[in-house]
Amino acid sequence: MKFAERMSRLGTETAFEVLVKARALEAQGRDIVHMEIGEPDFDTPANIVEAGVKALRSGKTHYVPSAGIPEFKQAIADYIAGTRHVEVDPDLVVVTPGGKPIMFFVILALAEAGDEVIYPNPGFPIYESVINFAGAKPVPIQLREERDFSFDVAELRDKVTDKTTLIILNSPQNPTGGVLSKEDLKAIAEIAVERDIPVLSDEIYDNMVYDGEFASVASFPGMSPAERTIILNGHSKTYAMTGWRLGYGVMPAELASQVARLMTNSNSCTAAFTQWAGTEALTGSQEGSKKMMAAFKERRGVIVKGLNEIPNLRCVMPKGAFYAFPNITETGMSSQAVADYLLNEAGVAVLSGTSFGKYGEGFIRLSYATSIENINKALNRISDAVAKL
Ligand SMILES: Cc1ncc(COP(=O)(O)O)c(C=O)c1O
Repeated sequence: MKFAERMSRLGTETAFEVLVKARALEAQGRDIVHMEIGEPDFDTPANIVEAGVKALRSGKTHYVPSAGIPEFKQAIADYIAGTRHVEVDPDLVVVTPGGKPIMFFVILALAEAGDEVIYPNPGFPIYESVINFAGAKPVPIQLREERDFSFDVAELRDKVTDKTTLIILNSPQNPTGGVLSKEDLKAIAEIAVERDIPVLSDEIYDNMVYDGEFASVASFPGMSPAERTIILNGHSKTYAMTGWRLGYGVMPAELASQVARLMTNSNSCTAAFTQWAGTEALTGSQEGSKKMMAAFKERRGVIVKGLNEIPNLRCVMPKGAFYAFPNITETGMSSQAVADYLLNEAGVAVLSGTSFGKYGEGFIRLSYATSIENINKALNRISDAVAKL
């Protein structure tokens, strides 16, 4: 079969590959602690499941509008308006099967050959993959350990050119747990307005900020979703709904209609019953979600303290999301070698920092969306394995 040239430009997400390797070891009888996949270990809160079941039983089993059902779009518009302190019309909302399609559709709609897209590195690997797929040039901006994994805004200013068609932000961030400060967001907003560049702000971890409050670039002058910011969000992380596939984007109306057209051409629409469940998630009890967020905060303390007690590892306290991103350079090994060694020798599945781009070298990512018992088991195993190096 001859594949289209564009397929050679498409990357991937290695978390799923490591999961397959870990499962193969388990099939041989090995006990593996899973810290590779970024998904809550909790079940979807019961009130949300009930709303989904009720929707199915009451015949919400048909096609719905490509951009989403009006009730869910309204709930999203209210949520974003209330938390980002901006006006949001439901026409700015496009519902998609997960947050990932918003990345795919927005980059495809805005970037092409000759364009440049600035994105965080280390960062979610799909940004770079889709920028390449679209034929545009990926321009990484390095997240720095010494800045608690934020970037230097002066560096961003230097990277913006007349060809820059999009700036991608992600705060709280995967894989580092870094959070952009209000001052940095304000400075980034000023650059975007001055240079007239749209910003794709991946806010999927917005409810997982452990110190201080969540802040969005969309709250600054000239940056509302009606004007310039494309907010990417979804229910996978906050409501433990990864397998439901439910996400959304909130963006300027002219872009929303293009993204809805991409939905019509690919998925037709997002499953109807998940949107009813998603409406309950936003408008119903938040107890289930709050309990999960409290558990993540407790686990963060345990894993970061434990990692810092292991000689040759050091770990910045992540301010958000559910990932620890320790520095492994003192082991003398590459990130990939450490990740392979921990899986094969210690039975702990982690990801190499380089799974998130070239500036991830020197780090590994551990997801702490798992029980304290598992975290302690992993820490003991990592400590023993690192001591043998
Ligand atoms: C930074 C970031 N954005 C977006 C997503 C996409 O999530 P989903 O498509 O499950 O909503 C993820 C998932 O891991 C993520 O880490």
